[in-house]
Amino acid sequence: MARSRTLFFCLDCGAESVRWEGRCPSCGAWNTLAEAPAGGGADRRRKAKRAGPRATSGARPRAEPLGAPGEGAERLSTGFEIIDRVLGGGLVPGSLLLLGGEPGIGKSTLLLQIAARVQAAGRPVLYASGEESRDQVRLRAERIGRGAVALPFLATSDLEDVLEAAESGAPGSGAPALLCIDSIQTVSTDDGGAPGGVSQVRACAARAQEFAKRTGTSVVLVGHVTKGGGLAGPRTLEHVVDVVLHFDGRRSAEFRLLRSTKNRFGSAEEVAAFRMTAAGLEAVLDPSSLFLDDRPAGASGSAVAVAMHGSQPILTEIQALTAPARYGSPQRMTTGFPSRRLAILLAVLERRAGIGLGESDVFLSVVGGTRLTDPGADLAVLAALASSHLDRPIGAGTVLIGEVGLSGELRGISRPEARARAAVRAGLDDVVLPGVHREALAGARGARFADHVREVVGGLAS
Ligand code: TYD
Ligand code: MG
Repeated sequence: MARSRTLFFCLDCGAESVRWEGRCPSCGAWNTLAEAPAGGGADRRRKAKRAGPRATSGARPRAEPLGAPGEGAERLSTGFEIIDRVLGGGLVPGSLLLLGGEPGIGKSTLLLQIAARVQAAGRPVLYASGEESRDQVRLRAERIGRGAVALPFLATSDLEDVLEAAESGAPGSGAPALLCIDSIQTVSTDDGGAPGGVSQVRACAARAQEFAKRTGTSVVLVGHVTKGGGLAGPRTLEHVVDVVLHFDGRRSAEFRLLRSTKNRFGSAEEVAAFRMTAAGLEAVLDPSSLFLDDRPAGASGSAVAVAMHGSQPILTEIQALTAPARYGSPQRMTTGFPSRRLAILLAVLERRAGIGLGESDVFLSVVGGTRLTDPGADLAVLAALASSHLDRPIGAGTVLIGEVGLSGELRGISRPEARARAAVRAGLDDVVLPGVHREALAGARGARFADHVREVVGGLAS
């Protein structure tokens, strides 16, 4: 008799492990492994199989052509063109989506606005919250307007209640086109173990997925993220869900970026920008210079990068501060930029441009609360570090674009023209680019070229 297997999941990065360890073998975080049964649904299916052939459904499985009629079902528009673009054309019926972000960033607001627009387009919707009362959600709906107060709403933390209500739907209309569950951490199901635990979160997601597949409803799960940036608990769901959307930004600032970090039905690259207003979130159609406001004039350590977010070039300020390390070993702190990448750029600065920061504390911050993963931001990060160390400001109209290689060479980047154009449009018309783009960008306004980081650092020092 096979016993049901348990696995361990890292609450920070979602990595799977067959045994408990004090430190996650994947991301190195301490005490983050939690126990959960291996893929709840699979166990149940295996049991059903043992119980006898076709004990569950009675019908034999039948293969059908990939393009069977009805399968390529039309996507469901969210009512926001920019979100539909991030999704690759709208919500796919029967899919499961995870909407992650820090508490207070605006996830519930965004989802409520989507729900209201889907309903306004004549499609049935159900919004369930285990987190807030009817009154709290009604107040938000009143601010949003657009008929949001008329949304069918259910306040419960029992997932089975939610699915039952969804299944019965509005009289005559069956299951809704869109089911919103706010949040996956606050609902529970009977066979999921202790509430709030990682096995509950996984069991609930498996139930929601089963429901989505069976009814063709698009199900959106809200998931709260911890400070470290991981979707604690929900992070372990990334393999289960079809789409992961991440809502980013600083709570104190008004701008937000919605990005997809996984998308089974489209590119995982596009972003949508929003502004938080007194009446909910408002789409920002040209976000290219969103994160440049309040840039300090003439300060050293500040540089502007143009990073691609999907097909969208976005100008982003990077701030660096370097200072002699007086207490113990030098610190390295970075927000919004990968720390491994920072380590490489520091090594390149030392070996290829003669700026040694081994004895300095280094702080790096991507302004506006976004995350930069585009290698095209390397040069701006490196220049910000050099600028801080030399205490020489970078020109207010300068942007720096390029990937930095280990020899200090500047490597070509994707979409150089689009990036340069976005910079000039934002009024920054001194655009430094890798020399390999010289020909392609000959005559482009503001463009100048460099082949090695030494030239850029030398330009600062002189
Ligand atoms: P919320 O959607 O509750 O965040 P989350 O679900 O991610 O925890 O929204 C949080 C913030 O948004 C809250 O501090 C108030 C602000 N807000 C506005 O500024 N304008 C609005 O119209 C609404 C509804 C919220
Ligand atoms: Mg919320």
